[in-house]
Amino acid sequence: GSGGGGDRSSALAGPPVLENSVQKIDVNPPKGTRDFPPEEMRLRNWLFHNFREVSRLSGFEEVDYPVLESEALFIRKAGEEIRDQLYCFEDRGNRRVALRPELTPSLARLVIQKGKSLSLPLKWFAIGQCWRYERMTRGRRREHYQWNMDIIGVPEVTAEAELISSIVTFFKKIGISASDVGFKVNSRKVLQEILRSYSISENLFAKVCVIIDKIEKIPIDEIKKELKSVGMPQEAVNELLEVLSVKSLSELEEILGGAGEAIAELKQLFSLAEKFGYSEWIQFDASVVRGLAYYTGIVFEGFDRAGKLRAICGGGRYDRLLSTFGGDDLPACGFGFGDAVIIELLKEKGILPELVPQIENIVCALDHDLQGAAATVATMLRGKGQSVDLVLESKPLKWVFKRAARINAQRLILVGNTEWKKGMVSVKILSSGEQSEIKLDELE
Ligand code: HAM
Repeated sequence: GSGGGGDRSSALAGPPVLENSVQKIDVNPPKGTRDFPPEEMRLRNWLFHNFREVSRLSGFEEVDYPVLESEALFIRKAGEEIRDQLYCFEDRGNRRVALRPELTPSLARLVIQKGKSLSLPLKWFAIGQCWRYERMTRGRRREHYQWNMDIIGVPEVTAEAELISSIVTFFKKIGISASDVGFKVNSRKVLQEILRSYSISENLFAKVCVIIDKIEKIPIDEIKKELKSVGMPQEAVNELLEVLSVKSLSELEEILGGAGEAIAELKQLFSLAEKFGYSEWIQFDASVVRGLAYYTGIVFEGFDRAGKLRAICGGGRYDRLLSTFGGDDLPACGFGFGDAVIIELLKEKGILPELVPQIENIVCALDHDLQGAAATVATMLRGKGQSVDLVLESKPLKWVFKRAARINAQRLILVGNTEWKKGMVSVKILSSGEQSEIKLDELE
């Protein structure tokens, strides 16, 4: 819009307003953002209900943080895409602030703030809106909601296994099976071991991961160039790229030469997957590293097997995030699951739920003078926990029936003169058409 910078006094004065001429506003929400009219809101509520229900089943507690945070919380120096997509600005008190692009830094901030008062392990979940100035593609928006589950205080792979188990539970709950989606799993410790074997500084680790994450988006020569420009020797780049194409653990074991932490953890994860009962959902894939700088160990992403959509969800271990904010590190892992790609997948499969508005009663006065009486009936029913759509104007019966059908009301309650004088109302069960006169105090 207007008023973005420039001369302040003229911005305050605004454009000349001609009397009787109103400029029609753009009725679309800002590019990349969404409105949630009732039908969209029903879908969102359905999705969030399932997120919450699955989190509850695993004993996680819900948390939330402000959408607006200090910009500093999101500034990392590893060249991540997310950094360049930040919605940031200066507030009226000259503070640098940003709309959160993700929830994890806020979680880290809160964990540091609470410090020793927290009893570990924490199992927290959140559903929050995140903002990223993205180039828009299918399933990628400038605003999305993300379901997060995080476990703080558990160094073992049991935590990762538990998190993936929750996502599997969620998929099953909404009608998605192991033939539709899967998880690609890797460990960043594989890369770390390669860097170590070439005596490359630990400081390069995050940068290298962020570069490798772009492997499917930019040409391989670009990747090689970037890896060299951050300081990796040619042979290290070659070995790294060779390892990335590995699709089985045994092959990886051969290349890395036997037992390392990475292999041990991955093996444990696969063995736990069997015990949890989701083996057919997960596979090893050395090319998955995820794009965020802070992951340190196992990383995973949910993908659609048809290969039409972007990652459905992603997460991993981030044992060293807290110290980047000046706190004491704690073992941590978690995932983020967006609300956009999953809806696309449900559409592809044709299993988007058909959700309709649901209301128990529609109450209508048959005479204008009885509107007060209808209000009394509505209040009484609402007091008993029944939902009521009260007709607020005098409307013909035909209109009332039509509305009752549109909102899926179960009962139509008509307040008419003759019955009201006897303290009664007429009740029609709309599914059967069955009609009766019921005393007001017997109405349930
Ligand atoms: P992320 O991989 O950046 O991770 O995002 C996680 C998920 O959020 C993605 O897989 C996708 O479902 C959704 N998502 C991200 N950006 C967009 C977008 N522009 N439009 C639609 N959906 C999007 C994180 O954000 C980590 N903080 C997750 C995490 C939590 N790791 C540990 N704990």
